[in-house]
Amino acid sequence: MSDPKLQKLEELRARAREAGGAERIAAQHARGKLTARERVELLLDPGSFEELDAFVVHRCRDFGMEQKQVLGDGVVTGHGTIDGRPVVVFSQDFTVFGGSLSGAYAKKICKVMDLALKLGVPVIGLNDSGGARIQEGVESLGGYADIFLRNTLCSGVIPQLSAVMGPCAGGAVYSPAITDFIAMVEDSSYMYVTGPSVVKAVTGEEVDHGGLGGPEVHARTSGVAHFARPDDASCLQLLRELLSYLPANNTEDPPRAASWEAPSEGAARELDTLVPRDPTRPYDMLDVVRRVVDRDSFLEVQPDFAKNIVVGFARIGGRSVGVVGNQPNTLSGVLDIKTSQKAARFIRFCDCFNIPLVTFVDVPGFMPGTDQEFGGIIKHGAKLLYAYCEATVPKLTVITRKAYGGAYDVMSSKHIRGDLNFAWPTAEIAVMGAKGAVEIIWRRELQKAQDPQAELERRTREYEEKFCDPYSAAKLGYVDEVIFPRETRARLLRGLELLETKRDTNPPKKHGNIPL
Ligand code: HXC
Repeated sequence: MSDPKLQKLEELRARAREAGGAERIAAQHARGKLTARERVELLLDPGSFEELDAFVVHRCRDFGMEQKQVLGDGVVTGHGTIDGRPVVVFSQDFTVFGGSLSGAYAKKICKVMDLALKLGVPVIGLNDSGGARIQEGVESLGGYADIFLRNTLCSGVIPQLSAVMGPCAGGAVYSPAITDFIAMVEDSSYMYVTGPSVVKAVTGEEVDHGGLGGPEVHARTSGVAHFARPDDASCLQLLRELLSYLPANNTEDPPRAASWEAPSEGAARELDTLVPRDPTRPYDMLDVVRRVVDRDSFLEVQPDFAKNIVVGFARIGGRSVGVVGNQPNTLSGVLDIKTSQKAARFIRFCDCFNIPLVTFVDVPGFMPGTDQEFGGIIKHGAKLLYAYCEATVPKLTVITRKAYGGAYDVMSSKHIRGDLNFAWPTAEIAVMGAKGAVEIIWRRELQKAQDPQAELERRTREYEEKFCDPYSAAKLGYVDEVIFPRETRARLLRGLELLETKRDTNPPKKHGNIPL
């Protein structure tokens, strides 16, 4: 290239691509991590990435930083497409000052977030950073706050997805935390508010990075993360897959898959015998879900956290739905603090983004005990109730077995604006399980009985026959129809079609006051 002006641009672009230099790039690779640019390339459709602000540099003049300027300043920002749909992206570059955030770096992120909000397209953040750039002091803290504000303003307007692909520490964790979904990479990522050395100094506890904030912690125990994947490539692939269920913004409907396959007829028929007749025997609610939704369309969210409830995205007839299901396989599907938090947040996400909710109910109630009461099950359970009550998206409910007590009300019941509520013949809709009920209402009779055990069994049978079925509720119109399990998919499919024109609103308000 002979024209010196064009040559200069070529050289500058090449310098920007060098980022932190060959040595640091090699170190990044040696840790099994891709560079910021490699990640963006893999995330987006080939050739679709358009970079912005590649020549931005920091403005720090302290600690000899003026000698150390790297084009782009440690974050790659721009836009591109995923499956042909526009997205905005930022990718933190650990090879430049450890991916730490300067004022200029924060401005780059804010610029693309503002763009995403203006365009109404999702924003995807790939995080790999040592946190606030120490040399910049409060300017860096201000930069984080500018990002947090935008995360909050974007919330519920455009989907925000975060991948944590390296360190994410200090207050920096609060940007991903405000976004809708966090995916972490096994072995190479961690998130914590204060690192192991501070933990040791303050509490005396000894713990390493992964033990304090790795995917094992956040995808299983804390529920901070929604997904964990073994490496960068599979994590990025997951983000692409997740996006396929979501609309670009809150004024659009989710995309409809061009083609889909129904589960086999055999699989659908198996539903008729899937629920054990003995109410104490468990089964896997995922076996129900997979026999109802389009083949291979279920993407489970938080599969390893609060496993007594299942949440995830799926498609029915190519339409995106949010699935919520009690999981009888774990703790009998009881609702507790963590399940309530997990499901409530998922339901609110679906409601923000016009994704219909399909709820499968088999729930014995709320978890009793001091542990739960002291932990505030009242306010956490209320989150789930609130989330279902305020949701105006189409709500379809299938009661497969138990719907007891308050949990019956909570799990997308007719009373809280369920649109189509079905029950299988195996459904038991009652204030509580038969034995518990008999022990309370016939306590004196049982005490006086010659054979209390036989009396208990007789009265339990009597109660079961009278109350433990779907028909008492159906007589009152509290379930719209009792259906054969094998009909479930067809009923839901037609229901979703019918509800496409659903309009429902909540009273005008600044925002509600969900019990936090
Ligand atoms: C400036 C930083 C940096 C930072 C790392 N580097 N973190 N530079 N500010 N915060 C630089 C290092 O000097 C080094 O530069 C390069 O990045 C790679 O760092 P290493 O330490 O060699 O890497 P590694 O051993 O992998 O350790 C990664 C790390 C560690 C665990 C993230 O760097 C670390 O502990 N950094 C500090 C983390 C931290 O305390 N940040 C502030 C958090 S508080 P060279 O030139 O040698 O390659 C915070 C507040 C946010 O962020 C508040 C928001 C409201």
